Amino acid sequence: MPKKVLIDCDPGIDDALALALAHGSPELDVVGVTTVAGNVGLPHTTNNALCLADFYGMDVPIAAGAGRPLVREALTAGDVHGGNGLGGVVLPAATARAIDGHAVDRIVDELAAAPGEISLVAIGPLTNIALAVRKEPRIVEWAREFVVMGGSYTRGNRNPAAEFNVLADPEAAAVAFDAGWRTTMVGLDLTAQARATAEVRERFGALGRLEAELLSPILDFYAQHRQYRAEGPAVHDACAVAHVLDPGLLSTVPARVDVETHGRFTSGMTVTDFDAPAERCNADVATVLDTGAFWNRVLTAFERVAAELPE
Ligand code: RIB
Ligand code: CA
Repeated sequence: MPKKVLIDCDPGIDDALALALAHGSPELDVVGVTTVAGNVGLPHTTNNALCLADFYGMDVPIAAGAGRPLVREALTAGDVHGGNGLGGVVLPAATARAIDGHAVDRIVDELAAAPGEISLVAIGPLTNIALAVRKEPRIVEWAREFVVMGGSYTRGNRNPAAEFNVLADPEAAAVAFDAGWRTTMVGLDLTAQARATAEVRERFGALGRLEAELLSPILDFYAQHRQYRAEGPAVHDACAVAHVLDPGLLSTVPARVDVETHGRFTSGMTVTDFDAPAERCNADVATVLDTGAFWNRVLTAFERVAAELPE
């Protein structure tokens, strides 16, 4: 029986790879996609999700969510993902529109309808997640698991203290980590191990249109960013999906994670205490990636997606 998964995202180059990994893995059933403002504005993240779903052949309801953080001004990452969020790649226009209704209601309704069955995976700022928790606190019991690509227990990527998804909406991240569920935090310390190096990308060569029309141009754009020039682009978001796909791919350590929301220089920092007593731990923090097995899974999924693309 496939694992049901609901993905909240801000496509986004690595979000695009995460969606392909999810769609190309028969072990997963993507029951919903919700979008949030993050890498780029909500119109772009939503349109990118719709175009990617079409391109991949995903038949999934997509609901648009929050267009801005809970209290702060919007933070974007166009320098990393391009002004349109996909490195300037323009996919064929989406044939479907976003469904009626807000992403937050979609998250609550999906989890309510299938308690204990759906893995909630957040790979953008946590604004939709926080709003959903506030609207219906019982989702923390209904979600089968809650997995976040975000945070870091060493240093950030947007500044020395903070990773982008958490920094984009620290107040939302604090709500999410404090909601009462056990968060699996897939942060930069883990995702930095998932680099689309030249050696990895050589394996994409047989992926036809998927590689030529999407993977190659978006990864070329992504790789030029200063944070990726030395070791190659980190496919952050795919790691969060990989954890749901095969929990054995990521080693985790229990910890207490608190999100700084007041620091002048440290807002958005995920303060991670691996020495916290068990009763204070609210997260399992990913530390080590089985890189070889991860990329094998990714390639297998991408091969399935590529095989579905019409010539
Ligand atoms: O810091 C990496 C995260 O921020 C990824 O989710 C990327 O897509 C951006 O949203
Ligand atoms: Ca993302």
